[in-house]
Amino acid sequence: MPSSVVAHLIDGQQRLSQSGKTFASVEPATGETIAEVALGEAGDVDAAATAAARAYHDGRWYHLAPAERAARLRRVADLITDQTEQIALTESRDSGAPIGKTRGDVAAAAAAFTYFAQLPEHVAGRTYATDPGYLLYSRREPYGVVGAIAPWNFPFLLAAWKAAPALAVGNSVVLKMAEQTPLSTALLGSICAEAGIPDGVLNIVHGDGATGAALVRHPLVDKITFTGSTPVGRSILRESAEQIKSVHLELGGKSPSIVFADADLDQAVDGSLFTSFFNSGQVCTSSSRILVQAGIADEFRRAFVARAEQLVVGDPLDEATQLGPLVSKAQQDRVGGYLRAGRDAGAEVLTGGADPDPQRAGFFVTPTVFTSVDETMSIAREEIFGPVATIMTFDDEDEAVRLANDTEYGLAATVWTTELARAIRVSERLQAGIIWTNCPNHGQWNVPYEGHKLSGLGEDKGLECINTFTHLKTHHVNFGGHRYNWA
Ligand code: NAI
Ligand code: MG
Repeated sequence: MPSSVVAHLIDGQQRLSQSGKTFASVEPATGETIAEVALGEAGDVDAAATAAARAYHDGRWYHLAPAERAARLRRVADLITDQTEQIALTESRDSGAPIGKTRGDVAAAAAAFTYFAQLPEHVAGRTYATDPGYLLYSRREPYGVVGAIAPWNFPFLLAAWKAAPALAVGNSVVLKMAEQTPLSTALLGSICAEAGIPDGVLNIVHGDGATGAALVRHPLVDKITFTGSTPVGRSILRESAEQIKSVHLELGGKSPSIVFADADLDQAVDGSLFTSFFNSGQVCTSSSRILVQAGIADEFRRAFVARAEQLVVGDPLDEATQLGPLVSKAQQDRVGGYLRAGRDAGAEVLTGGADPDPQRAGFFVTPTVFTSVDETMSIAREEIFGPVATIMTFDDEDEAVRLANDTEYGLAATVWTTELARAIRVSERLQAGIIWTNCPNHGQWNVPYEGHKLSGLGEDKGLECINTFTHLKTHHVNFGGHRYNWA
């Protein structure tokens, strides 16, 4: 086994897989293998879950004073910030995302640890009105072991997003990050160790869907938090039914962007471009299903396409690059399939739209804009997860709302208007967990969200995620000497 294999982190130790198996992590810009990574199987997951359970139950983390846990989490944030360049570079090579994006993600990951470092001191319960001589109160307790499974579109950020709040409230964690992008998360392990997160409290097992499934099934894993596709979310829910395991899901989307004729057109074009093409469209909340009011549709299309054609697609390590390659050949093929499906169904290509060039190294797809899109086409209904926007038109508010809600997903929606009453009226009718008015993809750690319909289950971010990573215990105390005198 070459010493250069990226190892699991189990019980504070770097460990190769019990089987000795590895998998390749590929650089999407070149298609070359850049690392061999330990492939975790059920035995490795068992070792990690066992270590995590031991670390939880002996109290080496949960029984620290809340302020001490908070201090160590803030130290994680500082160390992440110190290592920004190394993490961002590693992640850009491993994921294909532009260096500007990965630097932003590292900053957001540090901010997550800073924000969630408040949680240890915010976990609270209630007392309840009751009879004299009794004290009734509730407390929120950690689940114990949290299994976290994440995709490849924001690898380091999602590792922090899941680990920081789960750890903050006192759980141990086993992370299973995406097989396409394992390298940056491996760096989080050493940072957490240096910051004083005790051995066994944060474990990382690399691997694929089978590794994730083993984590979901493991009886010592008390809670699952998953971000990824809706089909996998569904299978996790099914798998958890046997043990009645609590599951938190952040799933796919097909989010609409509704542009009313009274919108600031330049702002709407600018924001729609960002939400459609940022990270090459590989964003769950991408609002690339653009609905434009008929009166301004021609003008919007002209301006949007002109801007889309200026986007810089290229080497993720070049500071000027706005769109890197997609994460994998499989993803490039999947998005290529949608381009063909759109053309075959009769949608009109305004720019891009050609099959990916097989001569070009790397998994690139040209930013594509379709119009003459019918709401029944797959490009209007399914999550594409690539740099592909569709433009449809509507006549009035009712039609806009009907088209916007005509999806099985309910993650996010954006409204572009300068009329306050319309913004509020329409927002109240939209079936989605986050509504953005004139600011798609705006987010803060202190603001929670929750996917509706097929987009998810359970609250994320904010103080609300205390509920996601703890469960309730109520205490009934008889201190007044009450007796049952029953028999
Ligand atoms: P995926 O949902 O299959 O993978 C996400 C994570 O789940 C990975 O870590 C994977 O190893 C793990 N996983 C896969 N099967 C599992 C199972 N049965 N049990 C437990 N864990 C399992 O996503 P994938 O295949 O990478 O992408 C496919 C499509 O999914 C994309 O084209 C996109 O449409 C959608 N997707 C949506 C995301 C979102 O945030 N909404 C994120 C990633 C993908
Ligand atoms: Mg990779």
